[in-house]
Amino acid sequence: MKEQLEKIYSNAVIDIENSKSTKDLEDVKAKYLSRKGEFNEIKKGLKDLSVEDKKVIGSLANEISQKLETSICEKFKLFYEQELNSKLQKEKIDVTLPGQYIPRGHVHPLTSTTNEICSIFQSLGFSVVPDEFAPEVETEYYNFDMLNVPKDHPARDMQDTFYTNIAQNVVLRSQTSGAQIHAMELKKPPIRMIAPGRVYRNENINSRKNNFFHQIEGLYVDKNITFGDLKGVLNEFIRIYFGESRPTRFRSSFFPFTEPSAEIDVQCIMCQGKGCRTCSGTGWLEILGAGMVDPNVLRGVGIDPDVYSGFAFGMGVERLAMLKYAIDDIRLFFNNDVRFSQQFK
Ligand code: PHE
Repeated sequence: MKEQLEKIYSNAVIDIENSKSTKDLEDVKAKYLSRKGEFNEIKKGLKDLSVEDKKVIGSLANEISQKLETSICEKFKLFYEQELNSKLQKEKIDVTLPGQYIPRGHVHPLTSTTNEICSIFQSLGFSVVPDEFAPEVETEYYNFDMLNVPKDHPARDMQDTFYTNIAQNVVLRSQTSGAQIHAMELKKPPIRMIAPGRVYRNENINSRKNNFFHQIEGLYVDKNITFGDLKGVLNEFIRIYFGESRPTRFRSSFFPFTEPSAEIDVQCIMCQGKGCRTCSGTGWLEILGAGMVDPNVLRGVGIDPDVYSGFAFGMGVERLAMLKYAIDDIRLFFNNDVRFSQQFK
């Protein structure tokens, strides 16, 4: 047994000698000194020895395993330090290097313009209709019929309105005015609402026209609402949105769902009214259509036009943004060129 112990010891010394890393030393330790290691096997056999032998062999085994433990430990410390140093060398980082720039997104100028317009009207007492009450895919019923647009009106023509193949009479809305009907069906007057959203028209695309764009519809129905209220509210909106000094004009116009009707123009910011490509030489850009809600429309949704009256308006969000920020081409909003959109941070 003594020889056996000495043999194990000399083998262990060689193994320690040959170890090249902390990992090797851990293996050596496991091989000899762990619970299942070679020394423990010997110690298990001690119980069969005489008391005398037990003492001698036992203390020899302890002495040897202690010695091994110490030399493994010493060498381990050495390797550990070496390994740590080389790891630190390899993983060295320069904390003074500038960080990597991660570009941040931001709100699209059409979204921020929409938000700005909505909050102006909210401050004037209008509330914003949630999208689900003003759908983009609409029936002719809401887009035209209920708005007093005759069956043979040219706006219904395939050339202006996109018809879908979902079902006959289902269109991509050509105006947000259908939101007026939804609002009046859902609620009795007084009604004071705005509804922002996307509209579609089969247009030839150019610097002023795109085949989809954005409108904000407005509706105010109550007792004793007059054209004076319409002018007051819209003038106030323009004053807040553009500031005092921007020339604007009311022009009489026609819409099937309002009577009388008007359009509001704002002086072209590109040419200061002199006439240019953006305003096709007129010096003015139309920003909205408006008028007193036609009695036929009120009757259609069961509101008595002898008791109630109201005004409605629909404004072009792109036009309003172009006029505020001097953008001369509507297509810039939809090209997704970051050089354009980054200017609106
Ligand atoms: N819907 C009209 C358009 O798209 C604008 C409008 C809205 C006019 C409400 C009057 C009242 O041109």
